[in-house]
Amino acid sequence: MARRTKVYEGKAKILYEGPEPGTLVQYFKDDATAFNAKKKEIIEGKGVLNNRLSEFFMSGLNNIGIPTHFLKRLNMREQLISSCEIIPLEVIVRNFAAGTLCERLGLEEGTRLSRPLVEYCYKDDSLGDPLVSEEHIAAFGWASHPEMDEILSLALRVNDFMSGIFYGVGIRLVDFKIEIGKVFESEFQRLVVADEISPDSCRLWDIESGKKLDKDVFRRDLGDLSDAYTEVAMRLGVIQSNKSQLTEPRLVK
Ligand code: C5P
Repeated sequence: MARRTKVYEGKAKILYEGPEPGTLVQYFKDDATAFNAKKKEIIEGKGVLNNRLSEFFMSGLNNIGIPTHFLKRLNMREQLISSCEIIPLEVIVRNFAAGTLCERLGLEEGTRLSRPLVEYCYKDDSLGDPLVSEEHIAAFGWASHPEMDEILSLALRVNDFMSGIFYGVGIRLVDFKIEIGKVFESEFQRLVVADEISPDSCRLWDIESGKKLDKDVFRRDLGDLSDAYTEVAMRLGVIQSNKSQLTEPRLVK
């Protein structure tokens, strides 16, 4: 394979230069990390599942007119994406109380929120991605007021789309995180949903049993993470049967 130029390596993904200007190749690794990478493990097949699941959500969003960076899936672990400038914010949408919201406000996990709550964290691992307000975002110039209006609207539209898709397969979308990128096209600029959408970045609970089907399985040692993600992918029809589709072909000697 031709040697490629690595543009960026994160905890769960690598970005390579793409085949054409304005494109990148996003590679999904099997690395699972939590608590700002204090807990780490390799979960075989996770990258393959997240590549497929992110393709499923991003292409669905593209199809209903919510722009994303996703162009096409290339293979089991890679997708072609539009290169964009990531706004340094984690945009979190919550439908039910969980995680850091419960820690901060003393709410009981699972409390239904009266309306979707959108929060922003400043993307900086060394600071632990602190929660910030729109005043911080404006004061430090991370996004303009019109961009913030658009980000809020994108986040709520993504929430409606994903909540509906998950509801249809008996899963509650408790909360999720998205990232937003700026794509530059000649003198124009537009905002797109970027990074990934997968059970790494959502909280997903079975509606009937409350069973967790997301990264909390890894964070809290609740079982096999790849079983949980496989169940999500199977319920959505993203993979047909079992884990055999998640391992790369190997040379038979
Ligand atoms: O930890 P917290 O409760 O703030 O997370 C809210 C949602 O955002 C969860 O679905 C979590 O998986 C996601 N998240 C993420 N990446 C982060 C922080 C949170 O995907 N760095």
